[in-house]
Amino acid sequence: MSEARDRASVLIEALPYIRKYQGATIVIKYGGHAMVDGDLKKGFAEDVTLLKYVGFKPVVVHGGGPQINDLLGRLDIKSHFVEGQRFTDQATMDVVEMVLSGKVGQEIVSLINSVGGRAVGLSGKDAQIIKAKRKKLTRQSRAGRSPEFLDIGLVGEPTHINTEFLSYLSASDVIPVIAPVGVGMHGETFNINADSVAGAVAGALRAEKLILLTDVDGVLDKDKKLIPQMKIADLEALKRDGAVSGGMIPKLDCCRKAVLEGCAGAYILDGRRRHALLLELFTDQGCGTEVLP
Ligand SMILES: Nc1ncnc2c1ncn2[C@@H]1O[C@H](COP(=O)(O)OP(=O)(O)OP(=O)(O)O)[C@@H](O)[C@H]1O
Ligand SMILES: [Mg+2]
Repeated sequence: MSEARDRASVLIEALPYIRKYQGATIVIKYGGHAMVDGDLKKGFAEDVTLLKYVGFKPVVVHGGGPQINDLLGRLDIKSHFVEGQRFTDQATMDVVEMVLSGKVGQEIVSLINSVGGRAVGLSGKDAQIIKAKRKKLTRQSRAGRSPEFLDIGLVGEPTHINTEFLSYLSASDVIPVIAPVGVGMHGETFNINADSVAGAVAGALRAEKLILLTDVDGVLDKDKKLIPQMKIADLEALKRDGAVSGGMIPKLDCCRKAVLEGCAGAYILDGRRRHALLLELFTDQGCGTEVLP
């Protein structure tokens, strides 16, 4: 009896949040590093499906770093990272596109559909959801010198998001699942960091929340302590003092972009924690790092 009451109280605790976020767009970036095992992936699919059924509008953007590394390794194609971004030549681009649109995206779609959702996998090329241009990365060299340009090949950055098409999909029962592959002005294919895509999509859709699921508790400071909350004004200092590196750099940049463009809040959570999404959205105890305007 008391177990049943506990279960009912969990549902009742969720009521204010379900009311608050009725019809709200929630952009969720599912990091390749958080796709640790089948159970976790299924848990993610259940969470997203539940969000849709209770009246949220989830839009999923996925990564796939480890999965890309795996196929590159099997094909014996070497790759390296520059400031957290994968240097992408044509051979690497082919693998990136195959893995993201062909495998990782379709796996998430199947999982969501198997638990009762209606997910549709999309490349950023479909309906030109993600128009992109080549990304120019610069690094400040010694004081007084002009910044140096870093070549990262076919890495792109989003220039325009087809919000009309995405809104049309998410107003229906469809859950869009987007692979971070962009299309250039001349039909070129660009590899885009999935965080950048999620940030651009969340900003363009004026999402209520942007949630990035990754493989750490959240943003850690220099002493490896979790930062539960920060403002976008704090981000630069954190990057400057070296606390943030690698894959966390595009994450913080994307949080800033989303929040500046009108997304109400961005969150970096540990996707290896089962049902991290539900805990964040339906309970008072936030987990991970919250980035506020
Ligand atoms: N200050 C920091 N706090 C937390 N993580 C950090 C920090 N600086 C660097 N990182 C690194 O960022 C990583 C997360 O980014 P990463 O790109 O590896 O994963 P992802 O984006 O979730 O997956 P994918 O790139 O496949 O989509 C962490 O595992 C950690 O090693
Ligand atoms: Mg990453």
